Order: sequence, then structure tokens, then C-alpha cells
Amino acid sequence: MNIEISNKPLSGIKADCEVVFVVNKNFKHKWVADKETLESLNFKGEGDECVLLAEAKKIYASIESLNRDEIRTASAKAIRAAKKTKFKSLKVGLYFEKGKEGESLSALAEGFWLGLYAHETYKSKKSEHKIEKIIISTEEYADKKEDIKKLESALNEAKSIAEAINMTREVVNTPPDDMTPIKLAHEAKSIAEKHKMECGVYDEKFLEKNGMNAFRAVSRASAHPPRLIHMIHKPKKPKAKIALVGKGLTYDSGGLSLKPSDYMVTMKADKGGGSAVLGIMRVIGELNLPFEVHGVIGATENMIGGNAYKPDDVLVAKNKKTIEVRNTDAEGRLVLADCLCYIQELGEFDYIIDLATLTGACVVALGEYTFGVMGFNDKLKKSILEASKNSGELSAELPFNKHLKKLLKSDVADMTNACSTRYGGAITAGLFLAEFIEDKNRDKWVHLDIAGPAFVEKEWGYHPAGASGVGIKTVIEWMKSLA
Ligand code: BES
Ligand code: ZN
Ligand code: ZN
Repeated sequence: MNIEISNKPLSGIKADCEVVFVVNKNFKHKWVADKETLESLNFKGEGDECVLLAEAKKIYASIESLNRDEIRTASAKAIRAAKKTKFKSLKVGLYFEKGKEGESLSALAEGFWLGLYAHETYKSKKSEHKIEKIIISTEEYADKKEDIKKLESALNEAKSIAEAINMTREVVNTPPDDMTPIKLAHEAKSIAEKHKMECGVYDEKFLEKNGMNAFRAVSRASAHPPRLIHMIHKPKKPKAKIALVGKGLTYDSGGLSLKPSDYMVTMKADKGGGSAVLGIMRVIGELNLPFEVHGVIGATENMIGGNAYKPDDVLVAKNKKTIEVRNTDAEGRLVLADCLCYIQELGEFDYIIDLATLTGACVVALGEYTFGVMGFNDKLKKSILEASKNSGELSAELPFNKHLKKLLKSDVADMTNACSTRYGGAITAGLFLAEFIEDKNRDKWVHLDIAGPAFVEKEWGYHPAGASGVGIKTVIEWMKSLA
């Protein structure tokens, strides 16, 4: 679906249907032409109301303010309503915050693209929509040529981000037998090829040869072999060197510490972090961002079998630290430990960000919609929290402390992968990862636990049921703040 900008007044644009937002209960705005009908439908201009007036060929959605997230959610709602019709084209005026026209336009367009996505690949009957294009009128804004140019570049960027998010959603939603580590590596290869990036894919022999025994142990009982994926975007004269490390568990059964059935469902989404790395790399390549970025994904399943790793095993990670396995379901930290060692041994980085659906404890702490931000560098954490706020993704800091660190102690090895208490489980998992961050990199690293928002079974905001593609918007926004 295409989105265009036009400087014609809304009334002068031809389209099958018009989208109108009722902002802060203001029914007096000239675009709100059906006040009486709306009143008779008990449309109050509150909450997430959205109605389609078939005869008037209009979709009305209420928003409380011109906050970007409100705009994004409203356009997602409107497109969901339009999806059910035979309308081929829509028109809408540009709603914007003064001075933030580009951002407002991006939000409006993103909402349309993101709201259109639904995971229907496996349905025999798909809800095929007819919408081909949306025209956004800048009537209320300016008609100066350079302003339109700015808006067009914002639209282009929004498109790239929205498409990457929808791609990531599809990867995460794809069932485990169809999105195996090998298939995930194919996805990475095809993105890399398209955007002229390097992409290394390494198998279990590589893991063994390179002492990545923690990663290897998790993958051992799986019929689908693991892959270490390493994508590189390397522009000339990069402004910074960034490593992104993603947990790519294409399925997490829990291993021998098997998950109860109800908790195993949705564990195809345990590749949410790695898949977000794919999406971020795609945007970076498409927009040719001025950073050298390494995207590393630890792709594997966590399964059971005669050769499965066990509680009581002691694993030697790539940096030679030893880990007592007390729970095979705490596998993400084992895979990430080796991936973090791998990337740090390859060279110096200015920033290292990992994204992982790491703990159920993070979901308990923050709720399903918010991801956790952990690390040692307050300034870096603050910049990520700020970027998340600007991008419309929800995040909160989970602070480390020395008392929780003591819970990692093991009687037989350097540390344990599962603490004796569940309290503070998201933070102890973060502190476990910190054991694999070299001293010189402590202030360069930040850990994002996206276990909550990566996959939610019910529709929320501008997200459909299922995978959300969370993390992409925050990291891209953060990179833009660096540039
Ligand atoms: N993949 C899970 C975490 C998870 C839970 C992600 C819910 C998304 C939704 C992770 O591998 C896991 O099982 N962690 C355990 C750790 C525990 C055994 C120390 C957990 O959170 O219970
Ligand atoms: Zn697990
Ligand atoms: Zn997991």
C-alpha cells in the first residue's frame, strides 16, 4: 500500500473514503462534517472509538491529543476499519504538533502501515483488503516546497521502519518448524544481499571449535542445528561502531526443565530479539545510516532428548568462565553469553546492545507492554529510555544492585544460570549477562529484556495480536539521536 503527500486541500482530493480524527473532543473542526450522525451513534470523541459511516464514506476516530503515539494508534484503528471494506483509496489531513510536522506525519503513516499487518500466512481464507493508496493532505500545514521535501523524507523513513517491523513480526509469528535457525539465517542472508552487507553464518562445528560451549549445549538436543549469524553494515567513515546481539530461540520448550504446556505456547516468539536485530539491520541498510553496525544472532532451539544438556551440568563458556546449570529453561542467557564474548573478541565497539525475550520475571515486573532496560552506564540507559519514549515504545529501567548479584553464586562453578529465588529474576538475568561483558566494555553495554512486548496474544495500540516487532523503533531512534 502506497502513501502519498499532497498539498491540495482535503476536499479537492479524490478518494473512496476520508479518515477524520476528532481531536480532544473538538467537533467544531471543519473536517468533522457529520456531528449529528456521530452524536446519534453515541460517538463521544473519547477512548479508542472508531466508526465507519458507510453513506458519508468517512471513518471517524477519536484521539485525546496530537501526541505521536495517539496519532499512530488512531491511524492504525482507521485502517483496520477500512480493511473490511472495498475502498481502494483513502484520504486524510495531516494532523501535527507544531514544530514536529515530520514526526507527526511519520506517526500517521506508520499507523496505517503497521495497522494493516495481520498474520494470515497460514489461513486458507485471508482477509484480503482492497486498499491501494492513502493520500495525506498538507492543507493545514504549509505549501512551501522545502517543507514538502522534508515531509517526503520523513515519509520515506517511516516506510522503511514500518516495513521492517512488519517483516520482523512475520518472522516471529512464523511457526517453529518453518522458522528454524537455518531459515532465520536465510532471512539474514537475503537482507544482507539486498543491502550489500556482509553476512557470516556459522554452524555447530564453528561453535565447538570456538569454545562456545554454553550456546552449543542449549542447541545439542535439537533436530534443527543452530546457527550463529553475523551481519555487518560498514559505511565509509562511520560515526560510531555498534554491536547488536539478539536472542534467536526459534523454539524454547524449556529443555529438560520442561515448561508446563500453557507456558510453552507462544515460545516460537523466543526469537523476538534476534528477529528485531534483523529488522534493525534492514532499516540501517535501507537508509544507509552512518554507523558500522554488527548484528549478531544466536539462533537455536531449546529441546529435549538423550543428548540434551542437563541441570547439574557445568558448562565452560567462550571466555572460559564456568556455569552450573540449575535450570535448562534459563537458556537465553547461555546463548547470549557466548554471543557477547564472540563479538567483543572481534574488536572494539562504542556500544553493545543486546535484545532478548529473556525472562518471564521482566513481564511480571513491568507488564506485557513494557521492556526492561539494564546496564551500568546511566547516561547510555537514559539515552535509550529517551529514544524509546520518542519512538512510542514503552520501557523502564530495572536497576542492578550488589545484593542481587550475590544470587548468581554457585558452589561448584563460577556462577549458576538460575538463582535460588525468583525475586528480581529479570535483573539477575541481566547481571548474569554482565559476567560476559569485558571490563573495558562495561559502560558501553545495555541489555533490553523484551519478553513482555515482543509477543502479546491480544491486539494492543497499533499492534495486532501476536508479534509486535518491538525494539526496532527504539534502537533506530537512538541511532538517529547519536547522528
Ligand atoms: N524464553 C523465556 C522467557 C520468556 C517468558 C519470554 C515469557 C517470553 C515470555 C526464558 O528462556 C525462560 O524461560 N526464562 C525463565 C528463567 C528461569 C528458569 C530462571 C523464566 O523466566 O522463568
Ligand atoms: Zn527458557
Ligand atoms: Zn527462552
